[in-house]
Amino acid sequence: MNNTINRRNWLKAGLMTVGGITVAPHMSLGEMARAPLKRDAEGNFLYSPFFKEYIHNPFPEPKKILARLNANENPYGPSPKALTALKDVAHKGNRYAWRELFDLMEKIATKEGVSAENIMMGPGSSDLLEKTGMVLFLEGGNVVSADPSYMSLVRVAEATGASWKGVPLKSDWSHDLNAMEKAIDSDTKLVYICNPNNPTGSMTAHSELVDFCSRVADKVPVFVDEAYLDFLEDADKKSMVSLINKGKDVIIARTFSKIYGMAGLRVGYVVAQPETLKKIQKITRGGMGIAYPSIFAASASMDDAEFQVKSRKLNAECREYVYENLEKMGYEYVPSSTSFIIFPIEMEGKAFLEKMQAQQVGVRAFEINGGDWCRVSMGTMDEMKLFIKAFDKVVG
Ligand SMILES: Cc1ncc(COP(=O)(O)O)c(C=O)c1O
Repeated sequence: MNNTINRRNWLKAGLMTVGGITVAPHMSLGEMARAPLKRDAEGNFLYSPFFKEYIHNPFPEPKKILARLNANENPYGPSPKALTALKDVAHKGNRYAWRELFDLMEKIATKEGVSAENIMMGPGSSDLLEKTGMVLFLEGGNVVSADPSYMSLVRVAEATGASWKGVPLKSDWSHDLNAMEKAIDSDTKLVYICNPNNPTGSMTAHSELVDFCSRVADKVPVFVDEAYLDFLEDADKKSMVSLINKGKDVIIARTFSKIYGMAGLRVGYVVAQPETLKKIQKITRGGMGIAYPSIFAASASMDDAEFQVKSRKLNAECREYVYENLEKMGYEYVPSSTSFIIFPIEMEGKAFLEKMQAQQVGVRAFEINGGDWCRVSMGTMDEMKLFIKAFDKVVG
């Protein structure tokens, strides 16, 4: 019982106060190392004085891992239609995709209810996040984002010369939009919002975010990363994309890596105002980086509604299974709107990773304000059973 209370306190202490100052960790959940990264003597990533990511053998031999639950991949993908498309067009890998890319952009534009000139493609959304983080900060400035949040864009902005204004999430793990708005100053070149947020899996209320973006985007562009939005039943209603036709300077990033199960095929896009896209296009041709077959796989995936429904349903079932079992073991968790769950653990993160890997299960581990956390991606139900069994053994 005491343990349960301690865990609960830890959860609440996610964003804690030190000496009267609210602090939260700098957090990066990029699946590969990206600059700038500081490491401690043991090779762990140091994101701030209050946060680090434990690193233990991040790329173990695949055959030594039975459940790969450390990269928020969709275990069911690519969709059957995407696989057929890949086979059908593999022989065209000698060609550059020009018209074909444009066709995909048209199709995405129709789905999003915008014009093709609002769309920019990239080899995964990472590329577009990072190129945006680069081009907007060539002359310095600052970027405002939540803390903790996904750090890919922010880290590249910092490497380019920007400073970062991290604004702690609220105690319910949503973005503190009022505080973020207050943090904007005359040097702010971009606000980055990840909704649902990685690593917390939490959502910020739709209407509040619409109001925030509508107001703030008149002063400074707002980048909204919707990588995990498709895991919601009503994703279309929760997107910020409708602000595009209202002329707002928002940049919305979407990816084929998550609900579509195409992480290794590398397709993503942003929806933005044409003038904003022109700025990003100064340093990248975006879609040129996408492999010809991936373009067809993305297009076929969009037609495979059945696969998306299945992914969403199985993902939700796995989340429920993990919640139930964590509760049984006396653990709390942050309720997730995504394909991963984060929760506090009572073991030093590196030792935890090592022990989980010995059980052939890969997860991620972090230290947040002195507490240790596990982030587990949703795999298949069999993989989640392995995870729970391994976790029970490791912490039991
Ligand atoms: C919030 C968020 N945005 C963007 C990405 C990048 O995904 P990709 O480059 O595969 O589109 C990820 C990957 O995990 C993510 O978690």
